Amino acid sequence: MYFLYTIIASLAVFFILKWLKKRRYCTDLRRLDGKTIIITGGNSGIGKETAIALAMRGARVIIACRDPDKAEKAVREIKLKSHSLNVLHMELDLANLSSVREFCKSFLQREKKLDILVNNAGMPGVLEWTDNNFSMCFGVNHLGHFLLTNLLLPRLKECAPSRVITLTCSSYKYQKLDFQDLNYNQLPFFTYCRSKLANIYFSQEVARITEGKGVTSYAVHPGFVQSGWTCHYSILFRMLVQVIMWMFFVPCEIGAQTVIYCAVSDEAAKHSGGYFIDCRPATLRPFARDAAVAKKLWEASERLVNLA
Ligand SMILES: NC(=O)c1ccc[n+]([C@@H]2O[C@H](COP(=O)([O-])OP(=O)(O)OC[C@H]3O[C@@H](n4cnc5c(N)ncnc54)[C@H](OP(=O)(O)O)[C@@H]3O)[C@@H](O)[C@H]2O)c1
Ligand SMILES: *[C@@H]1O[C@H](CO)[C@@H](O)[C@H](O)[C@H]1NC(C)=O
Ligand SMILES: *[C@@H]1O[C@H](CO)[C@@H](O)[C@H](O)[C@H]1NC(C)=O
Repeated sequence: MYFLYTIIASLAVFFILKWLKKRRYCTDLRRLDGKTIIITGGNSGIGKETAIALAMRGARVIIACRDPDKAEKAVREIKLKSHSLNVLHMELDLANLSSVREFCKSFLQREKKLDILVNNAGMPGVLEWTDNNFSMCFGVNHLGHFLLTNLLLPRLKECAPSRVITLTCSSYKYQKLDFQDLNYNQLPFFTYCRSKLANIYFSQEVARITEGKGVTSYAVHPGFVQSGWTCHYSILFRMLVQVIMWMFFVPCEIGAQTVIYCAVSDEAAKHSGGYFIDCRPATLRPFARDAAVAKKLWEASERLVNLA
């Protein structure tokens, strides 16, 4: 009898979890022939799945990665899975602002077009510091992408209509920015939340300053995804999280859907500056829609990365 109960309970749990993890796919099948796309951190997780999907639609995909060996391996996999040879990698370390500048310089020399920039790379909450002594989350997730986008913006404008997509996280709502301490590095999870909130303000400000110039900007929460982010933690933590991820998180292929949606959809383009979850616009907490804070963060970031 207990045996039967166990089976019924297990089946129930299985189907409830399956139902909880049900997500929408991007149903817009537009092709991207002739488009050039940069995906930061395209060597793993959501970035790699995005690269496969966009290469499959005919785009020239450049993954911008810090580790050339991992990047080379990923390019091979992306080519194989997308049946496209138009995939390459370039070196970019977002934790090093000189590296960001060098990347942009060589990209702008080598490539004529840039139609879509996907600011995907990200560090989970770790209490480390970047090469420029910024807190790792704020430095990589926000400042690195801030400088990257600024340096590539002229090219994006030339190639209008073009898009900037920035990965954020729904956990933005647990923190606020402290302008006295943008490099806050106390509780790992909170440093992550703040950097993801910065991504949201950043994405809105990109939309504002490019309004009417043919560039649109999107902030995406990909859902909770079974990606490689746990590699930054101890084996014990990883084993624990692995179980939770297996139960509640979605595969990377699904995590990439809203990014793909924002890359191709006309419907998304009507909501430049918006926040997207599960292939549709979502609502932000009012504090995260504060244009004055977005502007203030933009100006503070300009000073921090030495943009005149
Ligand atoms: N997974 C989730 O549940 C979840 C939820 C909400 C939001 N997100 C966001 O989704 C994005 C993608 O993350 P993921 O889940 O796919 O994680 P992931 O598998 O860990 O991928 C992160 C990517 O970022 C790259 N990266 C990290 N630091 C970098 C640096 N300094 N310079 C250049 N690249 C760097 C990593 O490169 P290496 O391989 O060399 O480390 C890796 O390719 C992130 O922005 C994350 O915050 C994820
Ligand atoms: C930062 O990047 C530059 C340019 O790629 C490189 O010369 C420099 O050594 C890097 N700094 C560190 C601390 O790795
Ligand atoms: C970062 O801080 C360390 C130690 O505090 C220092 O040695 C290093 O020179 C600093 N690096 C930069 C780029 O300011």
